[in-house]
Amino acid sequence: MDEKLKQIKQTLEKYGQEQLLDEYNRLTDVKQKQDFLDSILTIDFNQVNNLYEKSKEEPAFANSKIEPIDYVDKAKLSKEQYDELNEIGTKEIKEGKLAVVTMAGGQGTRLGHTGPKGTFDLGLDSHKSIFEILTDILIKAKNDYGVDIPWYIMTSEENNKQTEKFFSDNNYFGYPKQCITFFKQGKLPMISTDGKVLVDEHHKIKEAADGHGGVFSSMLKDGVVYDMKARGIEWIFIGGVDNVLVKPVDPILIGLSVKKKVEAAGKSIVKANPQEKVGVFCRKNGKPSVIEYSEITPEMAEEKDESGELKYGESHILCNLFSIKAIEKVSKMDLSYHTAFKKAKYIDKNGQLVNPEKPNAYKFEAFLFDAFESLDNIAILRVKREEEFAPVKNAEGVDSPETARKLYRDFHGER
Ligand code: UTP
Repeated sequence: MDEKLKQIKQTLEKYGQEQLLDEYNRLTDVKQKQDFLDSILTIDFNQVNNLYEKSKEEPAFANSKIEPIDYVDKAKLSKEQYDELNEIGTKEIKEGKLAVVTMAGGQGTRLGHTGPKGTFDLGLDSHKSIFEILTDILIKAKNDYGVDIPWYIMTSEENNKQTEKFFSDNNYFGYPKQCITFFKQGKLPMISTDGKVLVDEHHKIKEAADGHGGVFSSMLKDGVVYDMKARGIEWIFIGGVDNVLVKPVDPILIGLSVKKKVEAAGKSIVKANPQEKVGVFCRKNGKPSVIEYSEITPEMAEEKDESGELKYGESHILCNLFSIKAIEKVSKMDLSYHTAFKKAKYIDKNGQLVNPEKPNAYKFEAFLFDAFESLDNIAILRVKREEEFAPVKNAEGVDSPETARKLYRDFHGER
């Protein structure tokens, strides 16, 4: 037996993952066999087994001290306050200190569009894709502030090629090509309910993107942090691909962060109702954090302050600003992984393709907002839903193309 195979066999036996050898033995093509072995070598089986063990544990949230967090309501700033923040933020933008990161590595399973979510046609009369809508925002900023804002787009192994091709086929929608950088996020194996690493329909290890929290380590690994520093970037707006009213170039958010001397800031919108299924900003054991809707108790969700506002009403909308120092710090840290239970096609032990109708596999994702806890403080800016939040998540119903299209049209007056 060749040395590589022998070593791999020992590793698989040590970690109880011998099922991968069955797949290796079934393969007939020599190159495919070698590639399969090479991909096994990239897996940290110790990590995989730990993640599996962790998936059985209750979330530790119950033992944490949760408190409300302060926020600034953009709509309630006095003219003087607004002008001051606007002046500070505008100066930073004009001096070329802002970069934008769009996280487009997700699978978009709920939307069900074939292809990267950013390539989805929102259904406007112009038939603009989400990526074109986002590019329009940066082109407008270029006109408003006289700077080309560097734009970094995070893709995943699954959608990187298609995303890059879409931009190049469309001539980067008129944005300077040299200002757009694509980088790929990390991935982790998906495992069965009994902790076994799965094989996908292409006879490769079944892997999935490691969550939007993977953005920080990928920025470091792929040289984005280095590139930003070389360009003199001080502030980085990080947002998801699927909010067609996102406002990544916001002098008020930057001005607030400078004024409050914080390492990061997040935008919030008021929860539509106490039961809305969104994560909200809070303090967890004194540190800024986000509590998920699945973790907040019904009583806490209803609690109000003396002015009648929900105490935990500031929804996290994945619109955040980080200083370059904060990015450098968190990109070197290991964020913990959360477990999601998903439907995943796989090859079973008899070599048969299984296309499950119900979730059957664990996927592990880091969440961007877990990084907040390692920062001393963050500023929260409450903004208006109708001005800044039109998510495209589901194929129909809430947060669907239909609702996002309406919000977009109402705001821009564009059909
Ligand atoms: P979501 O949590 O909505 O996930 O991502 P998703 O993958 O887009 O959609 P579903 O849950 O499969 O339907 C929020 C944002 O974070 C990005 C997504 O592209 C989206 O912009 N994201 C998510 C990543 O970039 N990488 C990931 O691993 C996960």
